[in-house]
Amino acid sequence: MNSKLIAIMGAALLSASTLAIAQDSGTTVVPAGEAAPAAAAPAAETGGAAAATATAAPAAADKAPEAAAAETAPASGDAEMASAEHMKPDAHPSKDTATEGNAPTEGDLGKNADPAGNPTYVVAPDGKVDWYAWRGYKKYMANCMQCHGPDGMGSSFAPNLTESLQDLTYYDYAGIVVGGQQNKWSAGNSIMPAWGEDPNVMCSLDSIYIYLRGRADGTIERGEPKRIANNKEAQQEEYDCLGF
Ligand code: HEC
Repeated sequence: MNSKLIAIMGAALLSASTLAIAQDSGTTVVPAGEAAPAAAAPAAETGGAAAATATAAPAAADKAPEAAAAETAPASGDAEMASAEHMKPDAHPSKDTATEGNAPTEGDLGKNADPAGNPTYVVAPDGKVDWYAWRGYKKYMANCMQCHGPDGMGSSFAPNLTESLQDLTYYDYAGIVVGGQQNKWSAGNSIMPAWGEDPNVMCSLDSIYIYLRGRADGTIERGEPKRIANNKEAQQEEYDCLGF
């Protein structure tokens, strides 16, 4: 997604929200002290909800990704088939992978898209990932991890995004990150800030999605992934977007 589009989305969604103004840099926003005990109870509730969705998911998940992989694999070369094999999602793939498959086609600046055009990742047989997925990990760690936990796995402050992405499409994700969301995960005081005016997040909206999609699919491991190669053009685009 280019920076103009991001700016437009940000402007549109943010006009309805005052949250981003209260939000500072996003790096030190974990509520301290009194918020922590209150947040512990909702976590248990969410566990229940997650278990409920887990039983519903496999029916759809079982077939879709394999059918998609089977369709797309023969068109690719040997190397790509090997990585497609390695990229087989687990039993709970992201919503986009479950419906579209995750077979990557490389587009502008080396960013990959699935057959429906949603951003997706590449994982090599040795576990290395494409530049965007690697960058997404870095940006996730800088902007999201303090609430959503290491590796997207959730915490008492915010939901497990590897589970959330099983129900959210790329566009759902983008809308929530740009405009924020409140009290859906747990009633009461559950606030996802709006990031639409924060270039640190907006300039990496796709990278973060690409990383989290791989995490939700179970194809990107926990911890910092190694990158297949550097991508100077993509890094420069991010810097241009940030105004460096
Ligand atoms: C200050 C803590 C905090 C930070 C930082 C934060 N989030 Fe959230 N996020 C939340 C909370 C709390 C919710 C649940 C909101 C609700 O109950 O509706 C949430 C919800 C979400 C959801 C929707 C999940 C669902 O199942 O409905 C997505 C997607 C998301 N966050 C992505 C991100 C990303 C990407 C970042 C980093 C750019 C980020 N969040 C940073 C607290 C945070």
